[in-house]
Amino acid sequence: MIIVNFKTYESAVGENAIALAKIHELIAAETGAPIAVAVNALDLARVVAAVKIPVFAQHTDAAGFGSFTGSIVPELLQKMGVAGTLLNHSEKRVVEKLPELVAAAKKAGLQIVICAEDDDEAAEFAEKYEPDFVAVEPPELIGGEISVTSANPQIIEHSVAKVGAIPLLVGAGVKNGTDVATAIKLGAAGVLLASGVTKAANPAEVLRDLARGLIS
Ligand code: G3P
Repeated sequence: MIIVNFKTYESAVGENAIALAKIHELIAAETGAPIAVAVNALDLARVVAAVKIPVFAQHTDAAGFGSFTGSIVPELLQKMGVAGTLLNHSEKRVVEKLPELVAAAKKAGLQIVICAEDDDEAAEFAEKYEPDFVAVEPPELIGGEISVTSANPQIIEHSVAKVGAIPLLVGAGVKNGTDVATAIKLGAAGVLLASGVTKAANPAEVLRDLARGLIS
């Protein structure tokens, strides 16, 4: 699985979110690789309407229909056709609230990707919450030029060993097919990345390369 987190990059919000998501859909169809996008809450409705690949939220709240002003409501996302959500991304840490956030997202039937900063957290979250995926991302490598797969392959091996049956995604600095292939070789189920695609001059070419790494 390749999940591209659009974050709030200008190249990946508003009209650009739709155009970029369509490129992901195109490359997913062309390569057969499972590719999903995690888009800003403000763009979810339009991106879901524009593409058939899985669309994830970047965060959800423990809120339902009713008196929850300003909240991102998991049940509403599910009704809109959103496939799942990231939770506890390094840029949106909510460790204390995870019990209620996970319960609300599960109740709504959303797939859940819980982000962890290291292998111990990955193990803890896998055991406590049994999400669909745990994504391990060393914060110091996020947005940087060096991929976790070359800077810290040990964290992948240790996380794989500790999460048991829960599929592991790895992220931070992932840029190309070689990074993806290394992650897979070390036992990961896929990658979670952002800037490698959102800052690319030619996102289609990058996605094609990432897909090659996944299925090679
Ligand atoms: O959610 C993905 C992310 O935090 C990694 O970002 O830019 O290092 O691929 P980046």
